[in-house]
Order: sequence, then C-alpha cells, then structure tokens
Amino acid sequence: MRKKLLVANWKANKDKNQVAEWFTRIAHNLKHLQITENIEVIISPSFPFLDLSKQLISKHNLPFKLSSQDVSKFEQGSFTGEVTASQISTFVEYAIIGHSERRRYFKENEEDLKRKIKLAKDNSLKVIYCTTEKEENIKEAEIIAFEPTYAIGTGQNAPIEEVIRKREEFKLNENQKFLYGGSVNPTNIKKYLKNPLIDGVLVGSASLNPDTFYELIKAAIDCQANQSF
Ligand code: PGA
Repeated sequence: MRKKLLVANWKANKDKNQVAEWFTRIAHNLKHLQITENIEVIISPSFPFLDLSKQLISKHNLPFKLSSQDVSKFEQGSFTGEVTASQISTFVEYAIIGHSERRRYFKENEEDLKRKIKLAKDNSLKVIYCTTEKEENIKEAEIIAFEPTYAIGTGQNAPIEEVIRKREEFKLNENQKFLYGGSVNPTNIKKYLKNPLIDGVLVGSASLNPDTFYELIKAAIDCQANQSF
C-alpha cells in the first residue's frame, strides 16, 4: 500500500509559545490514536522554530517529520537574511520549494526554483515542489504538490476531476508522489485521500489548530484502513 502524506504548512504563523502549545496539544490528542506506518505526517514551521520543533517531536515521541518552507537559492556566503539548504539540513528531511506565495510575493521564477531544488538535493533534502503547471523542475522533485491559487486559503477546494487531470498532465514516474493543496479541511480531506492517484495533501489554514489537524490525521488513518490496494 502506498503511503499517504499529510503536510502541514504553517507559513508565517505561530510564535515560540504557540509552537510549544501546538505540539503539547497534538501529543495529548494522539495518546489514544496510533499513527499507522502507511501515513507520513510532515510539519513545516518557520525557520526559527525548526530546532525547537525537532526537540518537541522527540520529547513527545511523535512520529512526525519536519520540512522547511523554502531554501535559499544561494549555497552560502554574503547573502544577508538568507537561510541555506545546508544550514537547515540538520533539522529537516524535506523542503517545500516553489510555493505560489513565494512565486507571487517574492517573484521566484523557474530558474530560481531550479537552483533551490539542486541545493536542497545536494544536501539530502527531499523536495516538495509546488506548482500549477507542467514545469521542467517537476522531473527533479520527489514530491509534487498541485496547488491551484484560487483554492489557497479561500475555502474553495478544487474538484477532484481537476486534480486528477493535473496528475495525468504532469506525467510523474512511479517513485514520485503527488499531493493536492488548497483549502483542505476535515470535511473534504477524505475525498482526496480516498483516491489512489493522490498520495496526500498539503494543508495550510487547517493545520494551525492542533485539534483540527488531529481530525485530519484521524481521517487519513480511516482512509488507509478502508483501502485494500
Ligand atoms: P490552505 O493553504 O490550506 O490554507 O488553502 C494551502 C497552502 O498554501 O499550502
């Protein structure tokens, strides 16, 4: 059975106390629920809290992995404000690259993203590449997230047919995973996860509240328990 991935993208939300509270609460919620091996939960906090998150995951014995929300397109050196793939590689296994908010607000283009992917991979990070189009970079990423901009943070999640059409258009290989992102919540998540062509979801808003995120994990476990392929 293929694993289903649940990626929580916190974006520029949460301070130090809120990060600690989130992990304490989710650990409490998960006391009575076993996260099965066919599910992978990946949390993506802001850079300053990656270390703290790593410590809290270990303290609460949570089966969670960590991802950054971005990496620099530069390797190292005089690039004030940048955080390099090498610097974060001790904290995370994954890096989100190409999120539509990076493209829109920071004008990142395919060439920038190509450099980021290379540096992430050089530092043994697995890339979660967000895109709406069939870009060349898709070939280089382990995980592709289709996130239509109209669906991000709007409550207007994409129809399943559109998501499946995109997966076909992207022509992924067997080893690449395909995620959907955009207004995923506890009410609509199963629709995506039940589909064998969708390997998981990338969740923004609904990941911020630990009780809501717990509902998403529960739904993912349910879906896997009811599938036999
Ligand atoms: P949303 O964000 O779940 O709040 O729509 C998804 C994303 O931007 O990754």
